[in-house]
Formats: sequence, C-alpha cells, structure tokens
Amino acid sequence: MKRIDRILKHDTYLKCVKKNHRYEKSRIFCRHDMGHFLAVARIAHILNLEKGLCLNKELLYAAALLHDIGRFRQYEDDIPHDKASAELAPEILRDCGFTLEEIALIVDAIKNHRNETIKKEKSLRGILYRADKLSRNCYFCAAEKKCDWKQGKKNTRLRY
Ligand SMILES: [Fe+2]
Ligand SMILES: [Fe+2]
Repeated sequence: MKRIDRILKHDTYLKCVKKNHRYEKSRIFCRHDMGHFLAVARIAHILNLEKGLCLNKELLYAAALLHDIGRFRQYEDDIPHDKASAELAPEILRDCGFTLEEIALIVDAIKNHRNETIKKEKSLRGILYRADKLSRNCYFCAAEKKCDWKQGKKNTRLRY
C-alpha cells in the first residue's frame, strides 16, 4: 500500500482534507472527512473480498480516499463535489505513482459515486458507490429525522 501512504502525505490532499474540515465543523449531517474515507475504503475492501471480485486493493483505497476531497468546492462555488473531486484527483494520483490507466478507472469511479444507475456493477465504480452509501450510520444518527436521504437509501441497521 505504498502508493496509499503517499496519498496520505500529499500536500494537495492534506489541504483538501483541511478545507473540508473547516466547512463541516458544525455540520449536523454526515461529514466528508478521514473517518468517512476510511470507512468507505474498508467496506469496499470487504465487499471486494465477499464477492470475490479481485479488484486491486490500492485502487479501492485510492478511490475511497479521494472520492469526496472536492467537497469544499461545493460550499465555495456550488460545484458538485463528485465533479470537483474528479478534477482534483488526477494530479494527486499521478504524483503518487498511479498509471494513466489506473487514474482513468479511479476518476471514473469518483465521477459516478452519486450515480445510482451503476450501483449494481461489479466494478470499481459499483463497489465505491455501494461502500459510500453503506458507510453512513443512519441507525445511530441524531440528525436522521432531518436528513433528506430517501428512506429506502438510509441504513436502518448495521451491516458492515
Ligand atoms: Fe460524495
Ligand atoms: Fe462519500
């Protein structure tokens, strides 16, 4: 996981994490922070193993760590954060040693992490979509009643 260690020390990455934290300090709903990124990465890893998909672990972790990094741009300029994160990710991935082919796969997964039509795919992007949604602890959330996630999308019980 050497390339994942590099992402976690990357300047741009750390700046994005800090900016997101600033904007979400008093947010009552789910945050887009390191806790969320790691939950998504680990659930993606579990799904990958459970389904025997043999997706590369570093690609799963890279997609999970980067999928929401552009969230601050949604607060600043109203740019959808899937798009903003997909724009920020390539430079970081290149610096950390990912190939052009790998970058294309990861960026595609980031771009589609809010696209419900791909949720059943057995691909990197399908796994990222599902892990992202499964990571939210609606069953233990004080703001659940005020949250605008559709009832069917909320996690009413612990699965991962
Ligand atoms: Fe997101
Ligand atoms: Fe997310």
